[in-house]
Amino acid sequence: MTGITGQDGCYLTEFLLGQHYEVHGLVRRSSSFNTARLNHLYRDVHDPSANLILHHGDLLDGSSLRRVLSTVEPVEVYNLAAQSHVRISFEEPEYTADVVATGTLRLLEAMRDYSSLSKPMRLYQASSSEMFGCAPSPQNEVTPFHPRSPYGVAKAAAHFQCVNYREAYGMFICCGILFNHESPQRGETFVTRKITRALTRIKLGLQEHVYLGNLEARRDWGFAGDYVEAMWLMLQQSEPDDFVIATGQSFSVRDFLDEAACQLGLDWGPHVKIDSRYFRPAEVDFLQGDASKARRVLGWSPKVGFQQLVGMMVERDLELARQEATLIGAGHAVS
Ligand code: NAP
Ligand code: GDD
Repeated sequence: MTGITGQDGCYLTEFLLGQHYEVHGLVRRSSSFNTARLNHLYRDVHDPSANLILHHGDLLDGSSLRRVLSTVEPVEVYNLAAQSHVRISFEEPEYTADVVATGTLRLLEAMRDYSSLSKPMRLYQASSSEMFGCAPSPQNEVTPFHPRSPYGVAKAAAHFQCVNYREAYGMFICCGILFNHESPQRGETFVTRKITRALTRIKLGLQEHVYLGNLEARRDWGFAGDYVEAMWLMLQQSEPDDFVIATGQSFSVRDFLDEAACQLGLDWGPHVKIDSRYFRPAEVDFLQGDASKARRVLGWSPKVGFQQLVGMMVERDLELARQEATLIGAGHAVS
């Protein structure tokens, strides 16, 4: 699994370990620990029952991908690694393209060479609803892509590379076109987690304001725990194919704020300020997915709805805010 240290990586690892897989994950070098989301799953490699093994590697470094493939000999590969922040892709377009588009190509080439020598592998590619951009909703597998960000363009390139390798070389590759999915493990700069972190801290008097951008954009938000199951289901089919994964419901950022504030008994009005730096040069205004193919072929449907999703994020962040307040109350500085 590439991207094992991210939000989806931790949920997918938990799911695969539950299915009795041995999971090998690619971790990129960092000056500080980047494996916090895996702490509850990790056992020391010297423990004979350890079934989660981490390897250093990077999508920017093809040799590391080849080395890990030949060491591990995987039966299934999940390519989740990405510079996944849309706003940041406008600041770092070349880097985003290198990781997301060329990085996927490096992995495909490594897998093609490896497959010709050994047993074939199956690949899951993390495609994105951001590829639809301004295409009319509801979006499904035949909706043409019209990406609106360097990230969306890079994901579309990676998507078409995967389709091409499937057609040209007969490789078993599935692209999951996943709409936004969130969780208490979501990165703190994505809008949902930014909101639940901020409102829970405001509720406990730890901060006064939060600065946001466009409150009118609409997203089809699901729960990451439900979505990783769909990734696995795609690789269990007899034929490779691409699937949209979504809830079919769309809410605005303002709706998310309303719901989170309501659950906390808070009026967000005085606490939310608009800052132009969080707007994007081109916005994706409306995403709403049609996952009827996944329902029909994979038997997949989401279990967690919007209110419940907001509830689980609010609950976790309230707990974190309480811990922070306790530490501050006891005279400890919190970094
Ligand atoms: P995430 O939390 O941002 O995780 C991204 C992962 O990629 C992290 O493990 C990160 O490592 C790793 N990574 C970044 N650059 C890398 C590189 N050069 N080489 C190797 N690893 C690298 O993203 P996520 O939400 O879990 O999403 C998983 C995948 O699904 C991504 O490809 C994303 O673009 C795609 N996707 C996500 C959503 C969504 O709503 N979450 C929807 C559609 C598609 P560090 O921990 O070291 O940073
Ligand atoms: N991040 C962020 N921060 N977004 C904000 C803010 C803010 O302060 N204020 C408003 N927004 C709006 C953005 O303009 C966007 O319309 C919406 O909130 C969602 O932003 P993000 O949570 O950053 O997610 P995203 O939709 O751009 O991208 C996510 O979903 C994609 C799938 O459609 C990421 O997870 C991508 O990796 C993923 O592919």
